[in-house]
Formats: sequence, structure tokens, C-alpha cells
Amino acid sequence: MFQVPRGTRDFTPEEMQKRRYIERNMTRTFLSFGYGEIQTPTFENVELFTAKSGEGILGEIYNFTDKGGRELALRPELTAPVIRCYVERLQMEPKPLKLFYFGNCYRYDRPQKGRYREFQQAGCELIGVDTPEATAELLALAFTLLKSVGLKNVRLNIGNLTIIHAIFKKLNLTKDAQKILLPLIDKSLFDELPAALQECGVSEKNTDHFVHILQTTDIKDIHEYLKDDPEAIKALTEMEAVLRLLSNEFHVTEYGIKLSIVRGLDYYKGLVFEIDAPVLGAEKQLCGGGAYDLVSLFGGTNVPTAGFAIGFDRTILALEAENFTFPPSKLDVYIIPVTPEMNSTTITLAQHLRAEGFTVDFDQLRRGIGKSLKYAATKHVEKVLIVGPKELENHTVTLRDMKTGNQETIAIAEISKKLKTT
Ligand code: HAM
Repeated sequence: MFQVPRGTRDFTPEEMQKRRYIERNMTRTFLSFGYGEIQTPTFENVELFTAKSGEGILGEIYNFTDKGGRELALRPELTAPVIRCYVERLQMEPKPLKLFYFGNCYRYDRPQKGRYREFQQAGCELIGVDTPEATAELLALAFTLLKSVGLKNVRLNIGNLTIIHAIFKKLNLTKDAQKILLPLIDKSLFDELPAALQECGVSEKNTDHFVHILQTTDIKDIHEYLKDDPEAIKALTEMEAVLRLLSNEFHVTEYGIKLSIVRGLDYYKGLVFEIDAPVLGAEKQLCGGGAYDLVSLFGGTNVPTAGFAIGFDRTILALEAENFTFPPSKLDVYIIPVTPEMNSTTITLAQHLRAEGFTVDFDQLRRGIGKSLKYAATKHVEKVLIVGPKELENHTVTLRDMKTGNQETIAIAEISKKLKTT
């Protein structure tokens, strides 16, 4: 009768098991890089998102008026909320501030595989530092997060908006022309770009050169192209320092320069990056981020900021596409009372073993040994304890190893010790 709203999903225990595995794994990695967890509300004042992007963003987000007449929006991402919280409460904290988060985001996107209206991001914001070592570590963290959950094939692509703007300046492109060109560059539409450039007044020769530079993976080409612009050369030299640290010290080598990465969101500047899982095809972008400016817009004292967010849902899709075996959910012990008279002992035993740290369940349907054993097998139970009247008289139970089918009689007092050693 009722169905989930379009673009949203329910997660069954089996799916939640995968999500929690990734969350645990990523939390460990964030903590190991010195980050602390932060949580912000699911909804914010809508101005937080229109402040930088303008009213145009309203078509892409869930916004509403509450009963008090406040204009609110479900968060489409967490960078603006985290920076709002930083300006409100954390500005006096010692720098750098390293914050990570997991959170649901809401976008009025057209749903398809890997693109949802409610999805989860795992991300982080680095506040108060922009040295090459800090930027290299941020890139290494994004890469490590995806590798350490088990992904084999991911590709890090690095762009730079300072360099893109230097190229725009070199070609005398107006702000209006840039607005037309940036979306084409963002989508790598290199076939459509020459006509658009020429319409913006760029000569055919310069057009060819520009399209080549956008696609080059050789930083020397870019150096040569922009050698007369000191600001661009400074940005390039800084980027080279970051890349050297990334490969030589952080040992991340699966990356490339891709100047066509310009990022859709409006707050970026300087170095930007994306990580793709080629196995996914259309919605292959697992992670996006870079340096950005929001602090002063939100009324804070300007400090460098950078960060990234990983699409949680796409990470799972990529792992599945690579045939990753997720750790199975498992129940350590299942207890079967042979008759309802054995319930009291069964419950006492279950509670005792739970307190000892085992995951334990027991038969509550009174369905007999045969059916209970079948149920235990479907739950990937390792050990079954059968509580029968005769054994109980001797303070013992039957321990069945579900892998081998072997059974033995053991004293109740010995169960915990026995389970720990087998
Ligand atoms: P973003 O590129 O918009 O960046 O989103 C980051 C990731 O979220 C994407 O790479 C993608 O995996 C996932 N994602 C985005 N939209 C959807 C969707 N509709 N369904 C499923 N997954 C989706 C940001 O959000 C920035 N706040 C990242 C950042 C943090 N930049 C600096 N700090």
C-alpha cells in the first residue's frame, strides 16, 4: 500500500551490515589521521545554502517553511553546515582543526543507480592550514579511506581553479563567457567546447591550444602555456610540491592531473580533486573536494579551508561491482531448549554469555531441535548449545559445532571458557 518516497531507500539488516562495516572502517582511518567527529543538524536555515550559490540552488534542494514561518532546507551537503558551526562555536580552537562527519544529504536530483534524493556522505573539513604537506595529507586521506574499505581500482584526478582562471584571463574571457564554458569543462564535453569558445571570441588556434591544455596530464605543458603569468606559475609550483609529497612520502601514485575538474559547487578555489571508480560507469564519482572559501562569507575571520566528501552509497556499489566479500553478520551462539521447561536455564545461559561478550540468540518459537538447527544454519551461527532434560540433571549441555557437525557434552560452568578457546 505504501512505498518509500522516490529517490529514497530502506536498508535491510544485511545492507546495514555493509554500511556499518564501511562506517567503522572509515571512522578508524579518520581518527588515525588526527580528525575529530562533528555532527550538525539535518536541516538548516535555507540562506546557508543560497548565500554562495544564489536562489538558483533552490531547484536542486528540499526547502520548506516551518510552522513558525522559518525558511529551512534539508542539507544538500555538509561543508556549509560545518563551516557555519565553526564560525559560531569553534573559531577560537587551536589550529589546524580537523573535522570529519557522516551524514545524510538531500538533493532534488533525478534518481538513478548511484544517484538518490537521500544519500549519505562521509567527509571532512580541514581548517586553518594550507601548506603543501597539509594538502597532500588531505588527498592521501581521501585515497586511503577508499582503499582501506577494500576498493581495488580507484583513480584520483587533480585540477586547479587558480590555473583555470589564469587561462580564462589569458584568453580575455568575460565572467559571462566563463559561466557558459565552466559547465562544458566540468562535464568534459571537449567536442562541444571549441564552438562555444569561438562564440566567446577565442581564435581557432587558441581554442585548440586551450582544449589540449585541459586534457594534458603533463604539468610541463601547463607551465609552458602559462609561463608569463607569475600567479599561475606560483600555483603550479605549489601543486607540484603537493604532488611530490603525495607520491614520495604518502606513497599515493594512482593519480593524474586533470584540469577539466572544476567542481560543480560554487565555493571552490585553488586545488580541487575527484576520485572515480571506473567500474561504476555513469555515476562513477566517489569523492569530490578541494580548497574553498566560506568562512568570511559566514562572518568569520578568514582562514584557509579545504575538504572532501565521499558518497557512501556509491562506495558500496563500487565494492559490489568489484565482487568484494563483506564480512558476514554472525551470531556466535544459538541456544535450543529441548522443551519449554528448559527456558529458564536457556535464558540464564544466554544472558551470561552476552555479558561475556558473545552474540547470542535462543529459540523462542518452541520449534524443536531439527527446525531450530536449520534456522541456526541460515543465521551463520558457529556454535549451538542444546539444553536437554537429561544433560541438565548433570549440569551439562550439548555443544554442536555447526561447521563440522561434531557434538560433545560439556559442563555449564565450562561453556564460556570452552567457547573462547574453540
Ligand atoms: P559533491 O561532489 O557534491 O561534493 O558530493 C560528494 C560525493 O557525494 C560525490 O562524489 C558523490 O559520490 C556523492 N553524491 C553526490 N550527490 C549524490 C546523489 N544524489 N546520490 C548519491 N551520491 C551522491 C560535496 O558535497 C562537497 N561538500 C564536498 C566537499 C567537502 N568539498 C569540500 N569539503
